[in-house]
Formats: sequence, structure tokens, C-alpha cells
Amino acid sequence: MSATQLFEAVDTYINSLFAADDEILSRAVERAQKAGLPEIQVSSGQGKLIYLLAKMIGAKRILEIGTLGGYSTVWLGRALPKDGELISVELDAAHVSVARETVKDAGLSEKVEIVEGRGLDEMRALEPSFDLVFLDANKDGYPAYLKQAKRLLRKGGLIVADNVVREGAVLEPSQVDPNAIGAAAFNQALASDPDLEAIVLQQVGIKGHDGLAIARVKD
Ligand code: DHB
Ligand code: MG
Repeated sequence: MSATQLFEAVDTYINSLFAADDEILSRAVERAQKAGLPEIQVSSGQGKLIYLLAKMIGAKRILEIGTLGGYSTVWLGRALPKDGELISVELDAAHVSVARETVKDAGLSEKVEIVEGRGLDEMRALEPSFDLVFLDANKDGYPAYLKQAKRLLRKGGLIVADNVVREGAVLEPSQVDPNAIGAAAFNQALASDPDLEAIVLQQVGIKGHDGLAIARVKD
């Protein structure tokens, strides 16, 4: 077994132990597949991680940038209390329609709003304060999303950002890889921001080799 195969097998083992998809999440994956969406949603284990982070800080207001088909949206929505709210922004109209169905199927329509639009425009139009911002849209937009996330978050709030390692491409981003350039600039900004305390978790598994950034707004 190669190292890659072993990482995938252990990821699958962890996911099935701690984060097995229920019927709603399985249907969410199927619905997105049938609609031809790219199969790049977070893994179930990553879903469980963002769910736990939201619960750990008692998040009541969450913002997600990059809904895709709504898989991570269900995980985040489930972390909310009864009076909680999740706004999830998605640019692609076809993705929006799949995500809205998934949110409805999950019984989360009361708490979750899928907004069709550009991440940055929608962030600029929002008012503070949020408890958690999850970034999972175009990576070249991450530095700009970070500025808006800082404006929108309360003290003690969290920024969580997917795909900030890109198989190591952030070490020396190629000039023709705007996602790697964006992720590297985002990591640099996160690391040097005096208002934030942050770390990147390197991740290997069923989604390949990537990383998740977690930052907390200082009190
Ligand atoms: C891509 C985007 C993602 O959010 C992800 O988790 C994996 C891959 C992509 O655009 O390739
Ligand atoms: Mg992602």
C-alpha cells in the first residue's frame, strides 16, 4: 500500500467512525452528483470538524462563502441553535438550486439562507456580527474575503478556510495558479495579522493533500 492509499484508508476509517453520512447527507451528495456538480465538497470528517468548531464557540450566526451543493451547509446548519442563522453565498445558479433543495430536505430552511451572488459583494453588504465565517469559494478571492470576514466577525469569532495548502503549491505558487497564489497570500495575511491567532492544519486523505486554516479574532 502506498502512503497515499494508506492516508485515504485511514481517512475513510475516521470518517466512518466519527462522521458517517446519514440519509440526508447521502442524498445531498447524490443530488449534487446527479446535477453534475464538481465533487469537491468537504469530506464528512471535515464537515464534522467545522460542525464541532461552530458548536464549541456556541455559534449563532454563521456565514459561508462557496455553498456548492450545500453539503457543508448542512453540517454548519446542524451546529446552530434553534434561533441560529446561516447565510451561505454561491455564485453559480445551478449550484444554488441544488443547495436549496438540500437545505429543504435537511429541514434547515428556517435557519439557512442560500444567497446567489458574488462572495465579496455579498460580504460587503452584510452587517456585523457573525460568530464564524467559513471560506470555501474561489481561492484567489481569499485575501479579500479575509478583510471582510474580519469586519464581520465578533471578538472570539472564527475564520475557517478550506484548501489553503493545495498539494503544497502554496510553498512556491506558480504564476499561472491563481488559487495557489491566493491561498499563499491568505496564509501570509492570516499569520501576520495582529488581530488574529491562527493555524493551518495540513490534511491528507480522500480529498488528496490540502489544508484547513483556523483563525480566531483576538479579544
Ligand atoms: C477545489 C475547490 C475546493 O473547495 C476543494 O475543496 C477542492 C478542490 C477546486 O476548485 O479544485
Ligand atoms: Mg474546499
